[in-house]
Amino acid sequence: MLSDKISHQNRLGLYVHWPFCVSKCPYCDFNSHIHKDIDIKRWRVAYISELRWMAEKYKQKATQPAILYSVFFGGGTPTLMPTCIIEEILDTLEDLFIICPEIEITAEANPSSSEIENLSAFKSIGINRLSLGAQSLNQNTLNFLERGHNVNDIYRALDVASGLFKQVSADFIYGIPDQTRKTWKAELNQILKLDLSHISAYQLTVEPGTQFFTRSKKGEILTCNENVMKDLYTQTNDVLKNHGYETYEISNYAKPNAKCQHNLLYWNAQDWIGVGPGAHGRFSISKNRRWYSQIRRSPDGWLSAVQKNLHGVEIQDEDDEPNFAKEIILMGLRLSSGIYLPDWLFGNSEFLNLNWLKQFEADGLIATKDNHIRVTEGGRLHLNSIISRLLN
Ligand SMILES: C[S@@+](CC[C@H](N)C(=O)[O-])C[C@H]1O[C@@H](n2cnc3c(N)ncnc32)[C@H](O)[C@@H]1O
Ligand code: SF4
Repeated sequence: MLSDKISHQNRLGLYVHWPFCVSKCPYCDFNSHIHKDIDIKRWRVAYISELRWMAEKYKQKATQPAILYSVFFGGGTPTLMPTCIIEEILDTLEDLFIICPEIEITAEANPSSSEIENLSAFKSIGINRLSLGAQSLNQNTLNFLERGHNVNDIYRALDVASGLFKQVSADFIYGIPDQTRKTWKAELNQILKLDLSHISAYQLTVEPGTQFFTRSKKGEILTCNENVMKDLYTQTNDVLKNHGYETYEISNYAKPNAKCQHNLLYWNAQDWIGVGPGAHGRFSISKNRRWYSQIRRSPDGWLSAVQKNLHGVEIQDEDDEPNFAKEIILMGLRLSSGIYLPDWLFGNSEFLNLNWLKQFEADGLIATKDNHIRVTEGGRLHLNSIISRLLN
């Protein structure tokens, strides 16, 4: 728990994007490119330069000084990142921010053996939470997703990770074409045996721009149908709840004290800065306005831009009230605990469709109390349509 002394200051998160992977998964629309040899020094200098530029921007514009509360190395595959770059980023943060004593520092990792070899070095430079992209404990599903690891690699990786890190999470994907309640139940039972403190379980989605998208346009069926998907979702929630996991966000499940603090910053519409190709950032510059930044996605383009301008930001602007309102609702309603709406937003028909709000309350899909709003368990299955109606 954070001490009272720092709770009144802005909680800031840092997202660092590493844009390379060993291969490109056919369902993935993240900013990831096939790994290539890089000039480590150039990349290291570029990350530090952009980080310093971004920290300066934050200091100039943010409403209050910040406590750095979390760092998240995401990708791509950040376990392919040279350790010296991560180390220098973490060292530089000490010059730039007041650091929360209980700072959470997460790295995403793939279970392939070469990446697992790096984990003890990751721990020694300060990473304290690992998020493993297991994706499935069923070999057929891993084959369907064309993952570069097998089920044994996952067990080995978790064995190493749990010996090193206090907090270990794993990502899973469900909803492939032939999946049924029975096969997913069997897999969930295997997942429970891993005794993880945190699980992310995502419904497979076919995203524009991916190989799956092209294949689905040609008529291939790549996910189970919508009714089965809803059924698998309810089953996931029920099974994990019965085994002590709280569904604290639509796809995220945690044992007590194991919620991902970094992702909570996003869902609570708090402040974070992002560095690295394709990273985004958003932070408050007044009670109802945010500054946002979007960085160039192309790794080479980013590198050249940072060398020239000290940063690779391609779009930066100030969000106005309607955009900030949208972010608060979109992100906050994903949380089971819901969100407190600021006074300027609560009950304001300019941003919220109050007729739909009343209707959803009457139907038991939304619960409100004072300024607080949350989607009920029954409402979670209809989250997207609830949000789009509330936002007009
Ligand atoms: C940044 S990605 C990947 C991290 C890591 N490179 C990996 O693949 O394990 C984070 C997570 O998003 C999920 N994900 C990515 N694409 C998805 C899709 N199309 N549908 C559902 N989940 C997806 C996966 O579970 C993945 O672990
Ligand atoms: S390893 Fe992860 S980030 Fe890389 S392509 Fe696959 S899903 Fe995307």
